[in-house]
Amino acid sequence: MSGEDDLIGTLPSGFRWGVGSSAYQIEGAVAEDGRTPSIWDTYAQSPWSIDNGDSGEIACDHYHRMPADVALIKELGVDTYRFSVSWPRVQPRGRGGVNSAGIAFYDRLVDELLNNGIDPWLTLYHWDLPQHLEDAGGWPARDTAVRFADYAMLVFERLSDRVRYWTTLSEPWCTAMHGYVHGVMAPGRRDPEAGMAAAHHLLLGHGLAVRRMRELAPSETMFGITLNLSTADPATPSEADREAARFEDGLGTRFYLDALVHGRYPEDVLEALARQGIRLPSEPWDPSIIAAPLDFVGVDYYFGTRYSGVEENGNAVEHFGMPAFRKVPFGAPSTVLGWEILPHKLTELLVRIGRDYPGLPLYVTENGAAFADVPDETGFVRDDDRAAYLSAHIAATAAARQAGADVRGYFAWSFLDSFEWAYGYAKRLGLVRVDRETQARTIKQSGLVYRDIVERVRGGRR
Ligand code: BGC
Repeated sequence: MSGEDDLIGTLPSGFRWGVGSSAYQIEGAVAEDGRTPSIWDTYAQSPWSIDNGDSGEIACDHYHRMPADVALIKELGVDTYRFSVSWPRVQPRGRGGVNSAGIAFYDRLVDELLNNGIDPWLTLYHWDLPQHLEDAGGWPARDTAVRFADYAMLVFERLSDRVRYWTTLSEPWCTAMHGYVHGVMAPGRRDPEAGMAAAHHLLLGHGLAVRRMRELAPSETMFGITLNLSTADPATPSEADREAARFEDGLGTRFYLDALVHGRYPEDVLEALARQGIRLPSEPWDPSIIAAPLDFVGVDYYFGTRYSGVEENGNAVEHFGMPAFRKVPFGAPSTVLGWEILPHKLTELLVRIGRDYPGLPLYVTENGAAFADVPDETGFVRDDDRAAYLSAHIAATAAARQAGADVRGYFAWSFLDSFEWAYGYAKRLGLVRVDRETQARTIKQSGLVYRDIVERVRGGRR
């Protein structure tokens, strides 16, 4: 047995295992049953926004193939399916009553999962804001937080009798930073002040939604949020690099977790933003709303990061209105997204979150890799690279548990080869291959390896 196998063998038999997806990445059917455009439908139409001019118009056609897809999830042997609900499908104008035909899809999905012995793990927001709300100001507008809580209640009223795990937001950092500061994801704005307002309103929307849902929740219901987290090391021990790493850790990790857990934003981040003239539109009562009690935190991990405060030539890094620092690679092998493969950084991250924010159960809600898959004539992909990536990161998760982190589950990302946002379809992360021409699904070698790991741990010790 390898060290990796030994570590994986320490996971308890009751450990939760899942696969994940998100609505816009797999559903397709963008104009069916009353759905209106989301910001991603709009963004996909602007030239050069998405590789190859791709869009989620058809995606994996999951909207029409849902029962067969649930059967595949069952074949993967997992106990949990993490999916997201499309806001413009359920509440097409971003306000007002529920769209019955839209919510009916999730109603059927939840039943199908439960009938197959799979727990639904529902995310309310994975990046597909109704375009109507973006037109009204989007996340930089305070009203969007209120709208989000109303939408959450529409879904909650309909599904809380069967769904136990509720995640408000997936990766709010990505929405705020990539969507509103860097302009590389929908809605493609480049406005640091708007981006930080978006970050605040995302968290406010989360807090408002959790409070309202919890008032009506059956006692066993669990509420959480999923954050994309990373480690942030200084590239060298220099003062400039340590400051860069501290700021990025502040903006990416402490900004969210300090607010959610302690009800305050980190002072050093607020000061650095203020030096750029950026102030959060936070009302005095907002922090206590954001810090609504949580039952779990989802950690999405893909890579570790190192930062330098200076350019390679020694000049200061240019700021563009927002403190920004240079990423310095570790020199490790990368996936085809250029993301370095650093499983030990996942261990470090989980241990650190467990130590700095104690008492919060953690779940690795996303972890996975894009590789250049080569199918054989039957569509089967022998993706030993992806299988190795998953095993190494599952072992890293087990190592974090051994070191004291309260990690209770691991969800591989992703279930299917999907619409990969700005990368379009060229980058594949699925455990199941999707043929883009025929929509045929084939479980990859990594899916089989994952299934074996799950089976082995389940049969092991508790
Ligand atoms: C997102 C996923 C996406 C993955 C790879 C994550 O940050 O949550 O939706 O598929 O990155 O692009």
